[in-house]
Amino acid sequence: MKKRLGDLKIGDILEKDIWKGDILLLKEGSQITKPKLEKLKRWGVTSIGVTKKTFPPLQAPSNSSSKKKNKKTIYFGKNQLMDHEVKLRKLFFETLTELGHDYRYGHALQDTEKLQWLEESFLTTISNTEVFHLMMELNEYDSYSYHHSIDVFMLSSLLAKRLHYIGSEDFSIGTMLHDIGKTVIPTNLLNKEDTLSDFEFHMIKSHATEGYNLLRAKGFPKSISRYCRTHHERIDGSGYPRGLKAKSLTPFDRILMIADTYCALTSNRPYSKSYTANEALLIMLGNSEQFDPTILQQLMLEIGVFPVGSVVSLSNGKMAKVVEINDYQPFASFVTYLEGLKDSILISKESTLSITSIRLDQ
Ligand SMILES: [Fe+2]
Ligand SMILES: [Fe+2]
Repeated sequence: MKKRLGDLKIGDILEKDIWKGDILLLKEGSQITKPKLEKLKRWGVTSIGVTKKTFPPLQAPSNSSSKKKNKKTIYFGKNQLMDHEVKLRKLFFETLTELGHDYRYGHALQDTEKLQWLEESFLTTISNTEVFHLMMELNEYDSYSYHHSIDVFMLSSLLAKRLHYIGSEDFSIGTMLHDIGKTVIPTNLLNKEDTLSDFEFHMIKSHATEGYNLLRAKGFPKSISRYCRTHHERIDGSGYPRGLKAKSLTPFDRILMIADTYCALTSNRPYSKSYTANEALLIMLGNSEQFDPTILQQLMLEIGVFPVGSVVSLSNGKMAKVVEINDYQPFASFVTYLEGLKDSILISKESTLSITSIRLDQ
């Protein structure tokens, strides 16, 4: 049954997938919620098909082997996986719909092949039963942290792929579980809107070590658990919990800390509103001594977003300054040449000119 957007009711079930170009906005079977309704309005959808058919909720399979400990990787049996796989793919697209907007990911998710690669990587990672159950527990405990974890997994994976650091299963699992220590922090503290006391802040920060200990206790190797402990470190030694410096932080650690920061800044959190891609990148550039400059630059190239004021090189060899970007499609940049042109030119997907690098020493 087709319904106009104004006639939609909370709880209505989508009959078919809703696509915007190559991006799946909402998956069939999704239940209309208030935020989803607002999103549909924002996306300019005017009418959609709804159905009375119900879709089964995603549940953890009762798999006794999931109780086994001290195994690095336990996969579902083949038949279970086939059945489970459909649900996991659905989970991926639901999460993608929630998080994978142009205004956060720029043009990074517009490439169908890359998206398929990301989906397969997600499937491989979450098919590990221990990982799956921990993620379901995280979702139940604190839904923001659960979505954030998949967000960080996606952006870290894209950055690792861009930098040719692919194929590390430990890294994929580590990025997905990096905040698992939040499950031992009281939720009223995680979601507190007021300023935290020193003690409360100290407690929140302990999620890094708690996560490491939790994964080690469950038999995860150090090569995975380490990411819980390193994602808040900074290469200038200003991070926590150990104040590690550059030489102790691997390229994977450096990717994760950048993805984690960008994802957090561009998400709505109980205690702060989300920043736009432009604002988030400006904040990170303002603290550039904390991050690996090469990876920070690769983040901007991956999403195709260069904050206003950046000095960039163009594919025609000229240097230019970004003077304006669109908050909803931030990869559409207006630039002016540093020399020789006062009017601005638009660089977008359609233009022959592209931004090839950004100068970080500005
Ligand atoms: Fe964290
Ligand atoms: Fe995080």
